[in-house]
Amino acid sequence: VESGQKKPNLYLIGFMGTGKSSIGRGLASRLDMTFIDSDHAIEENEGRSIPDIFASEGEAHFRKLEKAFVENGHPDHGCIVACGGGLVTQPGMIDAIKSRGLVACLFAKPETILSRTAGNRNRPLLNVDNPEEKIRKLMAEREKFYLQAGLCMITDHRSMLEVISHLE
Ligand code: S3P
Repeated sequence: VESGQKKPNLYLIGFMGTGKSSIGRGLASRLDMTFIDSDHAIEENEGRSIPDIFASEGEAHFRKLEKAFVENGHPDHGCIVACGGGLVTQPGMIDAIKSRGLVACLFAKPETILSRTAGNRNRPLLNVDNPEEKIRKLMAEREKFYLQAGLCMITDHRSMLEVISHLE
């Protein structure tokens, strides 16, 4: 897209730990676009962290906040939006983001995701006894949503810069 034009949003979707936020941030600075992280936007709006929201109001409430973020919580052009891993799993969400811009999905194997997310307490869904099993289960449920992206990219064994240069 040439500069000066209204650049459509680019939505990065995919499982936790596939690099949406780091890649989105890097890409936004290279393309001179605004970076938005849906989790961060929700935390700012609510004045508390994702683990707090999950603990006090539960996952279903968090999903409503994600829906509101997509429908009227962010600009409709000029942004690279890193979407929380479960954002596209609600009915209508894939179509909602596709109608607002381009959608790219980042993938990684469960082993890679496990190593990238290990020790991070900010993801309530992976705070379980067997996170690897949980990753496999969620991934199997979510694959059909992730595969609806216009562009899919595997990030295992790829550096952030490599992924960014492919998406540029
Ligand atoms: C979630 C992913 C997280 C965050 C929340 C739930 C999910 O975002 O939205 O913990 O359901 O996959 P990241 O994908 O940015 O880690």
